[in-house]
Amino acid sequence: MRIAAILTAIVIAGTAIAAVAAPPAQQAIIDQFAAAAKKADPGFSGFSPDAGKTFFFAEQTGGTGEASNCYACHGKDPKKAGETRAGQTIDPIAVSVNPKRFTDMAMVEKWFGRNCDTVLGRECTVVEKGNFLTFMSAQ
Ligand code: HEC
Repeated sequence: MRIAAILTAIVIAGTAIAAVAAPPAQQAIIDQFAAAAKKADPGFSGFSPDAGKTFFFAEQTGGTGEASNCYACHGKDPKKAGETRAGQTIDPIAVSVNPKRFTDMAMVEKWFGRNCDTVLGRECTVVEKGNFLTFMSAQ
């Protein structure tokens, strides 16, 4: 029982840390997605950095054929620079090494629009976007 209680406490503490891991500028953007997610689903209870990580590394179908995952351009290590298909450098997507990331909603939405279409052939859902931003803001 005692071990179970300790484990529960650790899980709860971990969740709390994950929930506050984003710096304020990124958190402000994430909060806007959270408000939209809550509006669409009153049962929405927060974004998952783990799901964001899984999404980043997932093989997708339905895209344009140019790339079938996010790391094709952003790289497997988000703290390092990525590269477009045409060989142009993309600055790291991880906030710890590139604090300007996810601080401008127009920029965020523009690139989700393009990249989700390329990789999945559709818009990313609000939850997919929020999970991704929550994960990358803690990288
Ligand atoms: C075909 C190459 C490519 C693929 C695949 C790709 N991206 Fe990108 N992404 C870019 C480029 C180019 C930019 C804009 C340049 C920059 O931000 O440095 C960008 C920027 C972004 C931004 C904006 C970041 C900011 O600073 O606001 C987000 C969010 C993003 N990508 C998410 C994703 C997600 C999620 C996936 C997978 C579904 C993905 N990308 C797959 C090329 C790609």
